[in-house]
Amino acid sequence: MKINEKINELLNNQVTNELFSANLYLSAASWCKVNHFNGAAAWLYKHGKEERTHADAFMEFANEYGGCITFQPIPKPATEFKDIRQVFTLIAGHEDKVTAQNNRIAELCLELKDQNTYTFIQKYVAEQLEEMATARENLDYLALIEDCDLFLFDRELNSK
Ligand code: FEO
Repeated sequence: MKINEKINELLNNQVTNELFSANLYLSAASWCKVNHFNGAAAWLYKHGKEERTHADAFMEFANEYGGCITFQPIPKPATEFKDIRQVFTLIAGHEDKVTAQNNRIAELCLELKDQNTYTFIQKYVAEQLEEMATARENLDYLALIEDCDLFLFDRELNSK
């Protein structure tokens, strides 16, 4: 038994999406670093590397299930940000999109009764809940401290 073609296609797209996520986090990390937000940069670097492991996991699972991953062009991530709030607003919005992508895979698995991919994707569905919560939490910190104390925000991320 081999992976369904439609599911393979979504997993293939998800490899691209996860690589885009990695680049987005790393691009934001780079901006933070040059703008002296060292804590935020460290947090974003770490998260960017984690996104790459997601891309690997999707590819390895598809291959193990007889699927093929064909690499696609990865869209260019944002490289310029108005301020630190824009960085974390963009990240939060992006994580909402990834959640929708993973949920779509889970829904298709249910439609097509694909238990193997459904089991695989559950880990990422659960992880997205955590990632969206973290993204919102970071925005909440920013809202709480307002402009007067970006230093505390940066230190908070450095300690994570
Ligand atoms: Fe791999 Fe943040 O999604």
